[in-house]
Amino acid sequence: MKAPSLTILLALMMALLFTDAIAVGTTSSDSSDCIECHQDFTPGIVVEWERSLHSQRTPKRAREVADELERRISATTTPAETEKFVVGCAECHLLNPEKHEDTFEHNGFQVHVVVTPEDCAVCHPVEREQYAENLMANAYHNLMSNPLYKNLADSINGVRIHTDEGITFDQPNALSEADSCLMCHGTIVTVDGMETKQTLMGEMDFPKLIGWPNKGVGRINPDGSKGACTACHTRHEFSIAMARKPDTCGQCHKGPDVPAYSVYKVSKHGNLYSSASYKWDFEAVPWKLGEDFTAPTCASCHVSLLTFSGEVIAERTHRMNDRLSWRLFGLPYAHPRPKSPDTTIIRNKAGLPLPTELSGEPASEFLISDEEMAKSRETIQMICLACHSTQWKDGFFTKLDNTIEVSNEITKAATALVAEAWEKGYANGPSKGHSPFDEAIEMKWVKSWLFYANSTRFAAAMGGADYGVFQNGRFQLSETIEEMGDWVKMMDMISTKAEEQKAE
Ligand code: HEC
Ligand code: HEC
Ligand code: HEC
Ligand code: HEC
Ligand code: HEC
Ligand code: HEC
Ligand code: HEC
Ligand code: HEC
Repeated sequence: MKAPSLTILLALMMALLFTDAIAVGTTSSDSSDCIECHQDFTPGIVVEWERSLHSQRTPKRAREVADELERRISATTTPAETEKFVVGCAECHLLNPEKHEDTFEHNGFQVHVVVTPEDCAVCHPVEREQYAENLMANAYHNLMSNPLYKNLADSINGVRIHTDEGITFDQPNALSEADSCLMCHGTIVTVDGMETKQTLMGEMDFPKLIGWPNKGVGRINPDGSKGACTACHTRHEFSIAMARKPDTCGQCHKGPDVPAYSVYKVSKHGNLYSSASYKWDFEAVPWKLGEDFTAPTCASCHVSLLTFSGEVIAERTHRMNDRLSWRLFGLPYAHPRPKSPDTTIIRNKAGLPLPTELSGEPASEFLISDEEMAKSRETIQMICLACHSTQWKDGFFTKLDNTIEVSNEITKAATALVAEAWEKGYANGPSKGHSPFDEAIEMKWVKSWLFYANSTRFAAAMGGADYGVFQNGRFQLSETIEEMGDWVKMMDMISTKAEEQKAE
């Protein structure tokens, strides 16, 4: 009889110890209030939150994880009032109330709707800081405050009208902009007073948010902060696993102008992801190469902390251009990546807000140096070398550099043709104070670099040969230039004919 009771006692002690080790922490009374009511009115939100790590760990316990590489919060201290409780509704939606233009009185609480990078930074300061140094955090500003890019946006979004003088277009309205470019680049979210809404609980007052909902990466928030962490860590699970899967990035990096996801999907790596990822562990921190996954996703090459046998292969970065040497995205030529994530400060020698001259020469003063390019490249190459040989890696990057050079060369031909059309008066170019993007020959020029040269380079950088050849690749690039050449020739013939007629 003695032995079993001792076993039971031991088991009880073990259970107690074990429970303590994974102690889940309690929910604050404020958050319990939110949950009690919200599980009736927005049950989906409560369920998602319950599945998140936020509902399971207190910031204190998260900080105390002994191995730094395994820690999931970067704050070394967190506010005393959050120490004892898990991260519930109140711990996010009541933060920094005075900074939030969208703070409102809600069932006795000062709640704000849009939880921003500034709020997340209370517990995740390093991620916020790095993210702010990212092109993505500046995506609204980079597009809307650059007169040339804004003009490109207007020429695409403006409603075209057929008049006796030909086709003209109006300025797009704010809702069209929000439904177009700003879906990905981010809107400005502002508050326009309060508004009464009929809800399932009857009439309630809420701040009237303009430019919302939106999850664009460079969104300007009602507390003045930039970006939306929810672009990759969707509310309310805020999962690391989701951010590591390529489909998350694919939401914005897919179209013919930016086809990273499209090329990845048909690359060898994407292939391995499709066929083998059901065996991978997307939750593990750090992400152990070979053990947790066997082929890279977007996150592995661009963001993740990667280890092998406890050795760090790459540090985690939310400043995603840390690992990039080139800007493959042609504006209109590929160029060394910009020094500052705010690209509106760039001026080329011609005074235009572009990172290259129309002749192709880079605006070097604003772009990283050769040494910095080499350093970034080394960082990403260390990742390749975990699974590939030096010769494989070198062969790959030699090919990529060639494709960058060659595709830039082809863009020169397209640019020379549109410049000829402007010079001969066949189209109204910037020297006449007109948009360089809105007439048929100009749109062909835009297509040549924005779609075809870009696609060719993305295929070289991340696989997916079809996208470098017949699917928006070299074939379409050559074809477009031939068409532009023929169009200029045709216009030459027409104008010669007109002059001959005038002379007769
Ligand atoms: C007594 C019930 C109740 C309590 C308590 C409550 N809410 Fe709500 N809340 C609601 C209802 C109902 C809505 C409206 C849902 C709708 O718009 O259909 C709502 C809406 C919201 C919204 C969305 C506002 C918008 O305009 O989109 C947020 C954010 C929110 N609540 C957060 C909280 C937080 C955080 C707490 C706790 C601090 C909390 N709520 C407490 C009932 C409650
Ligand atoms: C463009 C996508 C993207 C955005 C936007 C983004 N993240 Fe992440 N985040 C990731 C990826 C990918 C990982 C996985 C990193 C890894 O595997 O090491 C990650 C990981 C994390 C982690 C887990 C770190 C750990 O130690 O386990 C935290 C916390 C985090 N992000 C917070 C944020 C915050 C806060 C913001 C907003 C300021 C943000 N993220 C914006 C992609 C993103
Ligand atoms: C980790 C921080 C965090 C926690 C915890 C959290 N939220 Fe949120 N909540 C957010 C973010 C971020 C958004 C999205 C805001 C945006 O990007 O526009 C959001 C949005 C919302 C919205 C509006 C979104 C919609 O789809 O209508 C409601 C309502 C809401 N939260 C309620 C809650 C409730 C209830 C809880 C607790 C069960 C909770 N939140 C817990 C950060 C949080
Ligand atoms: C009050 C502190 C606090 C705030 C505010 C907070 N978090 Fe967290 N976050 C935590 C804790 C605690 C964990 C769990 C860490 C652990 O399990 O070790 C966590 C984990 C995470 C993770 C990793 C999840 C995973 O699956 O590994 C992500 C991503 C994350 N938070 C994003 C956010 C974002 C985005 C916001 C703002 C919308 C935010 N957090 C706001 C404390 C916070
Ligand atoms: C589906 C998402 C999405 C939409 C919609 C979108 N973009 Fe983008 N945009 C991106 C991505 C992704 C990049 C980054 C490309 C890269 O570096 O690979 C980008 C980058 C840019 C840049 C470079 C800015 C700089 O200086 O860094 C410009 C200009 C631009 N986009 C213009 C536009 C215009 C104009 C529209 C609307 C007509 C638009 N975009 C719509 C996703 C989008
Ligand atoms: C909601 C849309 C969106 C999502 C989701 C998104 N991005 Fe982006 N990304 C953008 C936009 C827009 C830009 C361009 C910003 C600019 O040029 O101003 C960009 C730029 C980038 C750049 C910078 C390129 C450079 O030259 O510096 C990298 C790298 C990048 N994204 C990687 C990722 C990865 C990896 C993911 C997924 C983990 C991801 N993005 C998810 C919209 C998005
Ligand atoms: C095997 C590693 C690898 C994977 C996987 C990968 N990339 Fe890349 N990515 C690269 C390399 C290499 C470059 C070019 C680096 C340079 O600047 O020289 C690049 C460049 C980029 C750029 C910069 C484009 C620009 O305009 O400069 C973006 C954005 C990007 N990748 C997004 C993604 C997305 C989204 C995914 C997943 C769908 C992805 N990448 C998957 C290696 C990878
Ligand atoms: C986690 C391991 C892993 C990492 C990291 C990795 N790869 Fe791979 N890669 C693979 C595997 C596995 C294959 C498939 C090899 C095969 O076809 O047998 C592959 C295939 C390739 C291919 C396809 C060749 C072809 O002809 O189809 C290229 C190119 C490539 N990798 C380049 C790179 C580059 C460049 C990097 C770094 C930016 C990189 N890889 C990082 C595992 C990795």
